[in-house]
Amino acid sequence: MSIEQATGLPSMDSPEYITNPQVFFSQEKCGGPVFQAVAAGGLKVWVVAGYAEARKALTDPRLSKNVDMARRSILANLDRKANVMAFAVDLVSHMLNSDPPDHTRLRSLVNKAFTARASERLRPSIESTTRKLLDGMAVHSETDLMEAFAHPLPMAVLCELLGVPQPDRERFDHWLSARMSNDPQRITMAAPALLAYLRELVDSKRRAPADDLLSHLVQAQNSDGRLSPEELVATTFLLLVAGHETTVHLIGAGMTSLLVHPDQLARLQRDRRLLPGAIEELLRYDGPVKTATLRFTTEPVELAGTLIPANSPVAIALAAANRDETQFTAGDSFDITRPSVGHLAFGHGIHYCVGAPLARLETDIAFTGLLDRFPYMQLLCDPSDLQWQPGMFRALASLPVRLQAPHR
Ligand code: HEM
Repeated sequence: MSIEQATGLPSMDSPEYITNPQVFFSQEKCGGPVFQAVAAGGLKVWVVAGYAEARKALTDPRLSKNVDMARRSILANLDRKANVMAFAVDLVSHMLNSDPPDHTRLRSLVNKAFTARASERLRPSIESTTRKLLDGMAVHSETDLMEAFAHPLPMAVLCELLGVPQPDRERFDHWLSARMSNDPQRITMAAPALLAYLRELVDSKRRAPADDLLSHLVQAQNSDGRLSPEELVATTFLLLVAGHETTVHLIGAGMTSLLVHPDQLARLQRDRRLLPGAIEELLRYDGPVKTATLRFTTEPVELAGTLIPANSPVAIALAAANRDETQFTAGDSFDITRPSVGHLAFGHGIHYCVGAPLARLETDIAFTGLLDRFPYMQLLCDPSDLQWQPGMFRALASLPVRLQAPHR
């Protein structure tokens, strides 16, 4: 018997959720803006799917992100005790797993190093990587956009941001891809090598600082001091995890949204000044983060008349909140000219995405390049045949496209 049948709760492992998370969490289906569901691995969670409730939850200090709290709560709410997550201690002591005052200290040190200038400094290298990838694609008439473009671009940008030396990039890419896969065996194999490499990289930046984010992080200091060696490694790991998959899948799901709405794509091709607004709509309509990272209630919390008990895991469904009709008129329709202000694709509150300016810059350059170079791009399969992946990201395994106009 499946967990969904055993508990009577909606399952976030079900094909319906994986294929169409926004519709799956529509309030009619789940009976309101706050309800229970079963997440991956059999973990019972409270889902917050309404826009107003999600914004409230994202700023509620009673919803903790502390790692020890997470461990206790997960153990208490997991059906299959054997399936306890392995916590790689060295990689988890970062700001996204902490509450104030730790969060405030860690984030302020990162803010000192990850300035608007640090993102803007990357513009020439993002443009040149984009050009190279598009040149490589242009010799084919068809390609998998995920493999040829959406994966390699953000990887190259992160290596440049952090200052990963050129000769190390291939193995770095290999470990990181393994670490991000949904395959527990690949993850376990890759984690120690990645950890050892990150430690060595941090040390090398301490010995010979350069003009990159990691060197600036090593030197960043405020009245509470500097980041410890463990915090530096964990923060670097967080930047990689948070900055890679998200951008990959904004390019993948974003291009899909445009290709399955040819009227919107044509409008954007006619008037490129619409691109910044279109990127906000891509983030709102089918953004890469389906649910924010889990929070845990430190005491009973009432949301929209529902009482969530203490010590409960809470999944804030950004994808569903971003379609909520009370905030976005005709929320299920894709309109690149709608004012998408206030979407929650980058989160909200103290954990609001540190990399949002870089993500916007990178996707602006990426979509400009794709639209300029391949104005006749078309999906090569039926949209219903696209393979969406399980997990917290709105992730496509592949995106087969035709790049050139068919010969007449
Ligand atoms: C399209 C691209 C991106 C999207 C949609 C995105 C989305 C998000 C979201 C939703 C959160 C909040 C998670 C939560 O509250 O549970 C977050 C946090 C974060 N993001 Fe991003 N992100 C993107 C790109 C990036 C990039 C490029 C970087 C850095 C290189 C980055 C670094 C971070 C960090 C460090 C945090 C944690 C902030 C904190 O805990 O205070 N993100 N992001």
